[in-house]
Amino acid sequence: MHEESRPKKPEDKHETNSGVSRREFLKISTIAAAVPVVATPNLVMAAGENVPVHGPGKVPIQLEINGKAYKASLEPRVTLLDAMRDSFDITGAKRVCDKAECGACTVLLEGRAVYACSILAIEAQGKRITTVEALMEQGQLHPIQQAFVDNDAAQCGFCTPGFVVACKAMLDKHPNPTPEDILHDLSGNLCRCGTYAGIRGAVAQAARKGA
Ligand code: FES
Ligand code: FES
Repeated sequence: MHEESRPKKPEDKHETNSGVSRREFLKISTIAAAVPVVATPNLVMAAGENVPVHGPGKVPIQLEINGKAYKASLEPRVTLLDAMRDSFDITGAKRVCDKAECGACTVLLEGRAVYACSILAIEAQGKRITTVEALMEQGQLHPIQQAFVDNDAAQCGFCTPGFVVACKAMLDKHPNPTPEDILHDLSGNLCRCGTYAGIRGAVAQAARKGA
């Protein structure tokens, strides 16, 4: 249908599902766009409630990664993955699909395996973030990392940090995983080189060693 032939809607009578009218929505968007840098969220009144608005300019962000505090000034749209890689030089988690499909960016958030490409850095504030970099201790590979080496569970290695972290989350939850546990808990990670047999061997070895 051409734009001209579309029936006109009565202006501002139409409410969105959130209860915000079109005029209020436009007002909020305009305020948000007009605030280049804010230290604390602006509050705007929408539908009778104060709604915090972050950005769109840079805001101060503090993250706790591998037990250390990291601070940066970032736009609220920046993902945890981009913040780690581009601002803090923590590059173990890889950016492959960047849309929650491959698992190469897997990190632990409060002990749970998550895709760092699909969480905003601003949302991860105040939560414990653990990356593959934290698994090695005193120069020694973590038993899961060693098991990947011993079982030849990597070819190009791009998926490996994500798999190692996902295995850690699984073995923390299921110290003696069943084949179903392995299938389920590692189903969010893909290996384009097809090293799945080696990965299954690595999981079995790591479980035997009580990793
Ligand atoms: S890069 Fe995050 S899931 Fe693929
Ligand atoms: S080893 Fe290449 S993608 Fe898994």
